[in-house]
Amino acid sequence: MRAVLKGVLGLVLIASPLAALNHCSTAPADPDDGGACARAAITVDSGDDAGAQCETFFFHPCGIPAGATARDNCYFDVNSCTALCGGPYYTCVAFGSNCVDGAVVVPDDAGLVVECGTCPNGTGRRPDGLRERPEARRERSSRDPIGEYFERAAHLEDASVHAFRIMSRELAAHGAPKTLIFAAKRAQADETRHARATRDIAREHGGNPERACVDARPIRSLEEIAIENVVEGCIRETYGALVAMWQAKAAGDPAIARAMKKIAADETRHAALSWSLAAWIDTRLDDAARARVADHRRRAVDELKNDAGACVAPVLIRRAGLPSACVREKMWTLLARALDLAA
Ligand SMILES: [Fe+2]
Ligand SMILES: [Fe+2]
Repeated sequence: MRAVLKGVLGLVLIASPLAALNHCSTAPADPDDGGACARAAITVDSGDDAGAQCETFFFHPCGIPAGATARDNCYFDVNSCTALCGGPYYTCVAFGSNCVDGAVVVPDDAGLVVECGTCPNGTGRRPDGLRERPEARRERSSRDPIGEYFERAAHLEDASVHAFRIMSRELAAHGAPKTLIFAAKRAQADETRHARATRDIAREHGGNPERACVDARPIRSLEEIAIENVVEGCIRETYGALVAMWQAKAAGDPAIARAMKKIAADETRHAALSWSLAAWIDTRLDDAARARVADHRRRAVDELKNDAGACVAPVLIRRAGLPSACVREKMWTLLARALDLAA
């Protein structure tokens, strides 16, 4: 898998010279799937210049979709954001008159407007039970885009510490091979270093990084573990490893380039672990469960395309080395092709 990732990155580097990185192109695609209750992308004046390029608004004419769960201060949990925003958005919150005293309110026939954050987030796995970070998001503690980006990255890296802690515990409970359990524990240690490194960068740029908060969950079934692993590991961490490799090469800030070089090497190993775990669980699932996991994998690849269309502030491209929208779109295309070949 490491060779595949490096091969994909090499193709992207050939296809997109660094001189092309300053292009910031399209807004996320509207995944409207039809029907009277379908969400629709709308334009809203949020009065917030700093976030204007990273946020999209969706109108839900029938209110909160089934299965979506609101948490504190009108924020929804990570999984709900997929239903509300149609993609792997990091934050989603009820907007304007739909948020009253910290609670989501949907008057009869008025519908729900949701603000979806599409800023790039860094690399990492989002464990089941991960809470949003509404306080940091609401206060906008940092106005430096690099500080804000690394606040989000540090939160996600810290979330990944929990994800691998939970993984090693669940794998032990299911009698997984010791090599997988050891790899999960090693990844947990890696993520602890990543969280520390990204917190340091965030603070150097005026950020106020916060620790991740994850609700405790009982040991899950192998199918549930497989679904989370295929979405968060096989797809998102593989893509995240590609982005980190790009940052290591393209970041104009030497300290960020150094940090991303170390992170990219670890994230590539984490992506490989995800694929090894997927292969082991696959042998323990029946045909119906395997088909459901494959369906989640296909959807995760499709949803990742939204991230590839998100806009990135030019300073993040120059200083933090983030790939532009057009480069990320090419990364997504090449990754999707590579995954098709591997399937
Ligand atoms: Fe990480
Ligand atoms: Fe990782």
